[in-house]
Amino acid sequence: MSEPREEHLRDWLSFAEELGLTPFYRRRAAPQGSPLPARKISLPVIEDPTPTVPMVSMAHETPQTASLFGEVPGHVEGDTLEKIRADIGDCRRCKLWPHRANIVFGVGNPRAELVFVGEGPGADEDAQGEPFVGRAGRLLNRWIESMGLTRDAVYICNVVKCRPPANRTPEKDEVETCSPFLFRQLDAIRPKLICCLGASAAKALLGKPIAITRVRGQVFDYRGSKLFLTYHPAYLLRPHSPTVDREIRQDLEKIRTFLSA
Ligand code: URA
Repeated sequence: MSEPREEHLRDWLSFAEELGLTPFYRRRAAPQGSPLPARKISLPVIEDPTPTVPMVSMAHETPQTASLFGEVPGHVEGDTLEKIRADIGDCRRCKLWPHRANIVFGVGNPRAELVFVGEGPGADEDAQGEPFVGRAGRLLNRWIESMGLTRDAVYICNVVKCRPPANRTPEKDEVETCSPFLFRQLDAIRPKLICCLGASAAKALLGKPIAITRVRGQVFDYRGSKLFLTYHPAYLLRPHSPTVDREIRQDLEKIRTFLSA
């Protein structure tokens, strides 16, 4: 095996290990049970492990994806975004509520093929009650337009619906309290692709901390949709390497190609 292929395979194996997909053998059945709380993992059985697994070649091919989850916890039959918003109500379930001006539920097309999931509202979002309307939002709009889409065509939401004080990262209990509403939103929309923007969204949906740099650009099966991970736009607003710009362009192109396939 060539060196880059070997390195790629090593990366994938250690990522699988981080997700609890271990031990990980060739031609073996998936082990029962999962170290991930409340989530059942179906281990991808790799007949011929190559560096292309679980990366998806999105260009006019049948996607090869890794299945991370089996059963779908928290699914509500016949759910709609209206019902979910009504259930959230004037939420006081976690300690974020005293800090908010508005609950930022989500915006866009309830039948979107593409859903973006961010971390949580910032000051602008809190003031306007709409996700991604500040600086990061304007950059996200440019990403959306670069894929030939409009903000109205996609759906945009966050892991937590209330602004964390001083824009800090949402804490575990806050994510645990709020993420069931996110899961319901994703189930109600059933998009072709869910794009996690940054590590908080990825962690909430995968149930484990992950390094975005390691898994960005890859596609996974997730609750009947595909899950894609890339950088948070706010990351691109800070000083960063030109490599990141190149990677973002590649990721957006992959999403565009995937949606049009
Ligand atoms: N960052 C997020 O993660 N979400 C928003 O809505 C705005 C900024």
